[in-house]
Amino acid sequence: MRGSTTTTLNLINMEGTSIMKLTIIGGTGLIGSKVVTRLREHGHEAVPASPDTGVNTLTGQGLADALQGASVVVDVSNSPSFEETAVMEFFTTSTRNLLEYATAASVKHYVALSVVGTERIPDSPYLRAKNAQESLIKGGGMPFSIVHATQFFEFVKRIADEASDGTTVRLPPVLIQPMAADDVANAVARIAAGAPLNGMVEVAGPQQFRFDALIRRGLGARNDPREVVVDPHARYFGAELEERSLIPADGARLGEIRFEEWLGQPVLHSGSH
Ligand SMILES: NC(=O)c1ccc[n+]([C@@H]2O[C@H](COP(=O)([O-])OP(=O)(O)OC[C@H]3O[C@@H](n4cnc5c(N)ncnc54)[C@H](OP(=O)(O)O)[C@@H]3O)[C@@H](O)[C@H]2O)c1
Repeated sequence: MRGSTTTTLNLINMEGTSIMKLTIIGGTGLIGSKVVTRLREHGHEAVPASPDTGVNTLTGQGLADALQGASVVVDVSNSPSFEETAVMEFFTTSTRNLLEYATAASVKHYVALSVVGTERIPDSPYLRAKNAQESLIKGGGMPFSIVHATQFFEFVKRIADEASDGTTVRLPPVLIQPMAADDVANAVARIAAGAPLNGMVEVAGPQQFRFDALIRRGLGARNDPREVVVDPHARYFGAELEERSLIPADGARLGEIRFEEWLGQPVLHSGSH
């Protein structure tokens, strides 16, 4: 009797949906670890896979084991290097390997996290690599969902570092609609637990800012003394931006967490981003 009760509980979660195994590539990272937590909270078997857990998508090491029995693979990994050749190599080789191993494991849904505006900012080597990743997924023959997210609040310091020239941070005054990693993870987990979209969905934060004002506010909250100055031609990871390059289309799914609320969180001072 006890055995049959346990089996039933293992097959259906509290929302009445089937319990699945989902392999989270990059499941030890900022978004990945939150996706693992969300999925487990909903009763799913979410397995993090990354070099930390013995899985390397560049070499294929550990992938067959990690994907065995999985219904869904969620790729929220990131390239350790944003250098042009390295980042292209990371996203194309990883994606080819993942598609090959996921197909062999009869995975039913391939979910990947990418960036709002990827297709319209070709001057950025990072976004060119993300675009190549997306093209491989679309042509990979497996049902898929691509989630385009805007910049994470947690990414503010990295953006400032990239745009810094000594103690001056140069940024174009374009629009940006950033979001909390928690909201990104919620969206990715919800989509991963659902049916494949065979398309792309955009997620974004609840507010728009001017890019320079956002970074100035974020640095100020960290007591970072760098000065943020407006420069319409300043490049963002290699690309000049237009007014709405970073903004999603109408109909994007919006997160709930506002920047001011997030700034009040203690994670701001301890996070690696
Ligand atoms: N930052 C933004 O504002 C933004 C906006 C939209 C979309 N995105 C996308 O969000 C995704 C996740 O970003 P994140 O900030 O969560 O990344 P992150 O914290 O840097 O985590 C990266 C993850 O990738 C794993 N990884 C690295 N090399 C790997 C390899 N060879 N094989 C398997 N896994 C590997 C890492 O594993 P270890 O911990 O074991 O090294 C880690 O788990 C990225 O694809 C990015 O394009 C980012």
